[in-house]
Amino acid sequence: MLYIGIDLGTSAVKLLLMDGEGEIKNIVSKDYPLEFPKPGWSQQDPEDWKKAVLEGVPELLRGFDASQVAGIGAGGQMHGLVVLDKEDNVIRPAILWNDGRTAKQVDYLNNEIGKEKLSQLTANIAFAGFTAPKILWMRENEPDLFARIAKIMLPKDYINYVLTGVHCTDYSDASGMLLLNVEHKGWSKEMLDICGISEGQMPQLFESYEKVGTLKPTIAKDLGLPETVAVCAGAGDNAAAAVGTGTVGEGACNISLGTSGTVFISSEKFGVDPHNALHAFAHADGHYHLMGCMLSAASCNKWLMEDIFHTSDYAEEQTDITPDKLGSNHVYFLPYLMGERSPINDTNARGAFTGLTMDTSRSDLTQAVLEGVAFAIRDSVEVARSLGIEIQCSKICGGGARSPLWKTILANVLNIRLDVPASEQGPGMGGAMLAMTACGAYPTVEAACKKLVRTASAVEPDPELAALYEARYRQFKRLYPALKDVFAGLYG
Ligand code: XUL
Repeated sequence: MLYIGIDLGTSAVKLLLMDGEGEIKNIVSKDYPLEFPKPGWSQQDPEDWKKAVLEGVPELLRGFDASQVAGIGAGGQMHGLVVLDKEDNVIRPAILWNDGRTAKQVDYLNNEIGKEKLSQLTANIAFAGFTAPKILWMRENEPDLFARIAKIMLPKDYINYVLTGVHCTDYSDASGMLLLNVEHKGWSKEMLDICGISEGQMPQLFESYEKVGTLKPTIAKDLGLPETVAVCAGAGDNAAAAVGTGTVGEGACNISLGTSGTVFISSEKFGVDPHNALHAFAHADGHYHLMGCMLSAASCNKWLMEDIFHTSDYAEEQTDITPDKLGSNHVYFLPYLMGERSPINDTNARGAFTGLTMDTSRSDLTQAVLEGVAFAIRDSVEVARSLGIEIQCSKICGGGARSPLWKTILANVLNIRLDVPASEQGPGMGGAMLAMTACGAYPTVEAACKKLVRTASAVEPDPELAALYEARYRQFKRLYPALKDVFAGLYG
């Protein structure tokens, strides 16, 4: 049988066709625009996602026997607010996970409702990208549109709705709404009341590996697929990537270097970071995880390469960064191009280069960006370590994981081994594996991981280089506190 995995990302949707043995048969990617209508705002039109998926699937299937497709599973960018009216039309562009417009609502939730209460109700506190503050923002700033809301959902849920007609979500993605009681896996009535919405406006909750329905006949016809194809609930992209890299069960770690950068630690038991710097979410394997999320990771490098250096040859830009240069760069980069979530939770934070001199070269800047992202990933790893979680190695995925240099920098900055899976297509592969589980090809998500995920190579840290990076990380740590007030005053 064949399975389709959908990775509904921020810059593109990646569709992947996989057989039951985990062999990737085909990949199709379709870009869509991302709007930044004001500094720190970030939106996308759900109709663009729909178009990309509906055009991409027939392309993905070209040359393959579509009658063999048994299931579809999606991993999607998390937290994005998608609102539909009573005719199921999209009311406004989706407000995305990296949008920072809700500083006021975050402040209200964290300080007036109170972090302790939020953490009791949802296991998390408010961050600008989470869904609940966006609902409050709409209520305050777009009351007419707010009044029309019949259904609220997350990005990949909209795609599942288009495919099946079912309003559904899964626990991993729902965890990031700040509306779910994560431990007990139900909507929090109190949080819904705080946001002025009712349970009837919320989608039905499923485990990620459960079937939510089959393809609508019209959609099956458009896609060239049988109507019997099962669609599973899918997962937030980080939980899906964790499945795709085999990060399930107790104490496994995955780092994703995508548009965002995440540190994902799986756990069989529910647990909360007492300071809520790490998110406490449900996992797609039926258990839980802790996660740190930085808002701009590979996107910092993309920004430098494409918008500043006007090149698409990322590898060429890295050729001058020879091994002797590692650990000795005097230029530092703060990667807060969209503000920052974990662990500093500051929508005002901004990017910065520091330590420039007349002999600073183009490749020093490139190196500083790769290192700055690695240092910021380490900030989340340090929070986990402070909770007594030992991270001795991690899987790695996402576009940034294609760079051997970046993996070497990260392994040494974190001083851990990085295991590189055979495919860096984390969320798409995870989505297909969730579909397999929903179709009964595997009894559990763990069983699918055990059978299908292979490690292709590993990057070990070098003790001397790790020591050099340790000293650099200490310098990096001093920069944000020194600049915090400057950032807060930039637009004042
Ligand atoms: C996780 C988060 C990001 C998005 C990226 O909390 O906001 O990783 O899911 O797509």
